[in-house]
Amino acid sequence: ISQNRMDFKLSEEQLLIKEAARDFAKTELLPGVIERDEKQEFPTEQVKKMAELGFLGMMTSPEYGGSGMDTVSYVMVMEELSKVDASASVIVSVNNSLVCWGLENFGTEEQKKKYLKPLASGEITGAFCLSEPEAGSDATSQKTTALDKGDHYIVNGTKNWITNGNSAAVYLVIAQTHPEKKHKGINALIIEKGMPGFEIGPKENKLGIRGSDTHSLIFNDVKVPKENRIGEDGFGFKFAMKTLAGGRIGIAAQALGIASGAYELAKEYSKVRKSFGTEICNHQAIAFKLADMHTQIEAARHLVLKAAWDKDNGNDYDLSGAMAKLYASQVAMDTATEAVQIHGGNGFVKEYHVERLMRDAKITQIYEGTSEIQKIVISRSILNN
Ligand code: CAA
Ligand code: FAD
Repeated sequence: ISQNRMDFKLSEEQLLIKEAARDFAKTELLPGVIERDEKQEFPTEQVKKMAELGFLGMMTSPEYGGSGMDTVSYVMVMEELSKVDASASVIVSVNNSLVCWGLENFGTEEQKKKYLKPLASGEITGAFCLSEPEAGSDATSQKTTALDKGDHYIVNGTKNWITNGNSAAVYLVIAQTHPEKKHKGINALIIEKGMPGFEIGPKENKLGIRGSDTHSLIFNDVKVPKENRIGEDGFGFKFAMKTLAGGRIGIAAQALGIASGAYELAKEYSKVRKSFGTEICNHQAIAFKLADMHTQIEAARHLVLKAAWDKDNGNDYDLSGAMAKLYASQVAMDTATEAVQIHGGNGFVKEYHVERLMRDAKITQIYEGTSEIQKIVISRSILNN
């Protein structure tokens, strides 16, 4: 048999980790998820437990405190956690695919020892700080400055929408050093919480993923040693783009999880709720909704796994990751909305979970590049090849 044959089989290890994530979501995330959402409460205890399970540094090498797993395992864990609690899973996603991955692949040995080890083991968490009030989709328009002062930088500016904004201890901050060089003058710096001049803004009051803490960050003459720069001078924008390409696979998996969580709830509900003398799943209108949901989720899962597989196999994954995120986030929004519909009035109240999944689904079409930005990435890729 050819070594290159197509193989949809998951390894024993991959199946075990998926099972562990599913159990964890059911026993540790599900209780209290409604309350955390309502109160916008950060899942502190749950994050500690996820750290113990190795979920915060899944793809990082054990040498630097991680679990040394592949991207396929990572997306399966993301899917399982997101079925229940997308606020918890975004914390996992940012720490794994943006912060740890970025440091492991582009950081110096000293940076890895000092920062990556505690981040990957989950002793602390990190944040990835690209967006600004005037630089969201248009990410090269960075206004935050990092002035070169010889052995250190002086950072000034504001970041907004930062996930793990208050809970993090380490922040990867993108800032402009040489404005005349445009994106080629941008740097990525490691900034620690507590560095003088670094302030955390108020928490955002959000539609969804309300358990995660989203904050703006303010930098007033923050002195950052040069050894905290990631990569060569001017590598910051490339760093952000390369890191986000993998991050988008994690968010695609989050969207997939939200969709499959909503679908499973709707399917079960349709088998017990009766109208006109029969379970509602016996009405073809409902059964066909379930058929569409199942088909679209399966298609999204194939795109997500293919993008993860590309990353694990050294293939380019800019295109496959963008397609996975674009499609899975649409499926999350559509599926969660239909799941509310299948629940009727019950879908509109908190106890049945689907209204939260519908609110959580929306963010997957916005962060780590909006759907419109994914289409820019996809169209550029297909037109240039
Ligand atoms: N890998 C490597 N380099 C890349 C790249 C990639 N995937 N994508 C772009 N680049 C490089 C380009 O090659 C170019 O460099 P050179 O000139 O040296 O070739 C440079 O980046 C600029 O690229 P473009 O000319 O294509 O820039 P653009 O202004 O047209 O913008 C964009 C490109 C794709 C729209 C980009 O701005 C973008 O991704 N915007 C969305 C920002 C985003 O995703 N933010 C997410 C924030 S993090 C977050 O949201 C986390 C969370 O919620 C949990
Ligand atoms: P804008 O860029 O102003 O876009 C507004 C609209 O215009 C969108 O529909 C967009 O798709 C569209 N648009 C813009 N340009 C184009 C174009 N060229 N073609 C077609 N349509 C276009 N950022 C971080 O750096 N780190 C984080 O941890 C982080 N976490 C986040 C958490 C939450 C809860 C939220 C809400 C955001 C987070 N973000 C984070 C920011 C997020 O990545 C940005 O919100 C996103 O990239 C969009 O930027 P924007 O909000 O400025 O929208």
